[in-house]
Amino acid sequence: MTMTVLVTGGAGFIGSHTCVELLASGCDVVVVDDYSNSSPAALDQVRALAGRPLTVYRADLRDRVALDAVFAAHPIDAVIHFAAKKAVGESMDIPLDYFDINIGGTTSLLRAMWAHGVHRLVFSSSCSIYGASAKTPLDEDEPAAPTNPYALSKWTCEQLLAQACQRYPELAVIALRYFNPVGAHPSGLIGEDPLGRPNNVMPYLMQVAVGRLERLPVFGDDYPTPDGTAIRDYIHVCDLAEGHRLALEHLGDATGLRVFNLGTGVGVSVLQLVEAFGQACGRPIPFQIMPRRPGDVARLIADAGRVERAWGWRTTRGLADMCRDAWQFQKLNPDGYRGTTAPVLSTSET
Ligand code: NAD
Ligand code: WQD
Repeated sequence: MTMTVLVTGGAGFIGSHTCVELLASGCDVVVVDDYSNSSPAALDQVRALAGRPLTVYRADLRDRVALDAVFAAHPIDAVIHFAAKKAVGESMDIPLDYFDINIGGTTSLLRAMWAHGVHRLVFSSSCSIYGASAKTPLDEDEPAAPTNPYALSKWTCEQLLAQACQRYPELAVIALRYFNPVGAHPSGLIGEDPLGRPNNVMPYLMQVAVGRLERLPVFGDDYPTPDGTAIRDYIHVCDLAEGHRLALEHLGDATGLRVFNLGTGVGVSVLQLVEAFGQACGRPIPFQIMPRRPGDVARLIADAGRVERAWGWRTTRGLADMCRDAWQFQKLNPDGYRGTTAPVLSTSET
């Protein structure tokens, strides 16, 4: 692919892996990130891994002046929009920040795209918009029922993108609803490095494995599942990154908004994940059964049939790969990016 792609939130977990994938496929990549939940070191690692430069702007997406300057400086063909806040629990405490950053950031981006004649967008959506739906597996026609401000912000963005496509028929937008992204690049150079105590199960497990945390709290063993713990559809972040490259390739197929789940269709319980991670790191992971976490549901599994029928896309990496690669990142970076001294191939940073 010879395209110039703007990646918002490119220093984050999914964004950094997608940047590697895009650079490897021949795209020129421009990143906008304010590092509110990431580190510039991630992008140094991306450059090192891809062996190619990328251009980085440190800016808040809601800063229209900064955004206009980025669009004016580069011949952007398409945008992948990752930048957002993503912690469900935090969104209950500071809902207005979630609306402002996630929805305001998206409208600011759309305005800049429109002003500069850029009509192609891939949007990061989330399985959380399905809320407490009991359906298994979940397909894209299941009605949205967001149960927290984070999920509401993602669902609102999907709706405003649909409306924008009606008003501006040149727009081509693909919303990808990710299930539970985990894992890391197999090199161990980039991975998931949340600031503070992790909310999500995989980074928590990773930090228990290196002794930064004592044991994993397992939230609930009384769910109606075979081992009593909750089941999720974990997807390797490199499968996800490949899904984004494919989405870019298919943006030109049609205008309007198209929506796809990205998941494996395979359910894994918390205890199965603990067991698999223990195998990957060569020692059992200490855990303790705790009460259920408020708001959790027993099962969330994707029906990923639509994307397979449309593009022939399906995941190729399994649970053992996810755990092996996540462990490789944690082993090489026990303190995350804070301990990283990466080779820098390009210093183009504004
Ligand atoms: P992340 O926090 O690692 O990455 C998000 C990046 O966006 C960070 O680098 C952060 O600094 C940046 N950012 C945040 N607000 C910004 C702003 N106003 N201006 C500029 N940059 C800003 O998160 P991630 O896991 O890589 O998630 C990426 C996207 O995927 C998000 O939109 C998230 O909602 C969505 N998503 C994530 C998951 C998941 O479990 N990781 C699941 C479904 C959907
Ligand atoms: C997975 C399972 C927990 C932590 C969230 C968002 C969703 C999407 C993906 C962004 C659950 C259990 C967890 C722990 C545990 N993100 N768990 N001990 O809640 O499925 O999904 O991330 O869009 O929107 O809601 O992911 O990793 O937090 O939890 O037992 O310390 O692990 O109860 O069953 P979740 P998770």
